[in-house]
Amino acid sequence: MTEQPLFYFDNNATTRVAPEVVDAMLPFLRDQWGNASSAYQFGRRVAKPLDDARAKLATLINADPKEIVFTSCGTESNNAAIHSALVTSPGKRHVLTTAVEHSANINFGEFLQRRGFEVTYLPVEPDGSLDIHVLDQSIRPDTAIVSIMWANNETGVVFPIEEIAAICRSRGVPFHTDAVQVPGKLPIDVKATGVDFLSLSGHKLHAPKGIGLLYVKRKTRFQPYIIGGHQERGRRAGTENVPYIIGFGRAAELALERLNEENTRIRALRDRLEETLIRLIPNSYRNGDRESRLPNTSNIAFDFVEAEAILLMLDQLGICASSGSACTTGSVDPSHVLTAMGVNPRRARGSVRFSLGVYNSDADVDFLIQHLPDLIARLRAISPLDAAHPDNDRYDPRAASRSRRHDHDTTVATASDTID
Ligand SMILES: Cc1ncc(COP(=O)(O)O)c(C=O)c1O
Repeated sequence: MTEQPLFYFDNNATTRVAPEVVDAMLPFLRDQWGNASSAYQFGRRVAKPLDDARAKLATLINADPKEIVFTSCGTESNNAAIHSALVTSPGKRHVLTTAVEHSANINFGEFLQRRGFEVTYLPVEPDGSLDIHVLDQSIRPDTAIVSIMWANNETGVVFPIEEIAAICRSRGVPFHTDAVQVPGKLPIDVKATGVDFLSLSGHKLHAPKGIGLLYVKRKTRFQPYIIGGHQERGRRAGTENVPYIIGFGRAAELALERLNEENTRIRALRDRLEETLIRLIPNSYRNGDRESRLPNTSNIAFDFVEAEAILLMLDQLGICASSGSACTTGSVDPSHVLTAMGVNPRRARGSVRFSLGVYNSDADVDFLIQHLPDLIARLRAISPLDAAHPDNDRYDPRAASRSRRHDHDTTVATASDTID
């Protein structure tokens, strides 16, 4: 039986492990499986490749290798940065973040709120951008940390990280950015941007799942989140995941090499996909700012249909994409990101994210364009939704986000289902 071809448009969720990365890892799974902390040569032999991988990741973000702390994933890195700031400044119990963060931050914020900390989730504009004057005004004397993503995983909208870092610096508050969606798509320079903490995750840049890093700027006060052995200069306990770190290092080299391709070929593919679909499919709209956006991401609303139905039908054709909606107790909750942008719930429920990567070809985009307009027309023909529905009125995201937070004890499961 021949396998159905795969048309993968979900690179913001996870990426294929690059063959070059697999090749780099294999010797450390098969032969060089020693522990880098051992006293004998067999173990010590992996210390140098480990240092080399750390140096490659430092180069990717223009950091010093000593500023890199390997973790298990982007979520751990985000949690670790916020946890460290709260523990190292015990008098400060306020965290400032945004309403459009990944659940790695939203759910950690809600966890902190239940333990008596205060968390502000900054609103965003209809195009997904952040009003940095509001950010400035929201920093308080008791703010322990500002944690704001660099680029949004659902819409690709990019925040002005350098400006945000400058504001935080002028107010004496540490700044963490979740840059998980950025490497390989935009240049990252921690020195030029002036961030204090930055999170990355291997599986978003063609390394395996289960490896991440936290950049901790030199001289920043830091309290480990995982406590035990002295690995990572005492900043993250646990025996180093040598093969994955080696793979992550190789992926960092590839990400740098492919930055140009993402911004030329992939951007052009994404634009062709988006423009063609919006032209061919009536009542379809881009979510998020067109310009200030990752080159690979397109989030499109298709009115009068449910994204879940679109995704199921695409899946039958071997096409993978995502929606930010989350299924809970039989109903579909709209994406918290689109909701925060003021997209009405009905339109948000019909929104699909297409995220491209270096393995996508023109033929992939042709295949999607060939099938999606017809598929949406068929779904609309049987859809009970129409333009007269009251939900199509403009929506008040702040009221919704207030009620979500008042309900936080019961919404934990919902929020944890949000899109990667
Ligand atoms: C913006 C963002 N932050 C954090 C994460 C979490 O990363 P990880 O899956 O490595 O925990 C993801 C992806 O899932 C993401 O897209």
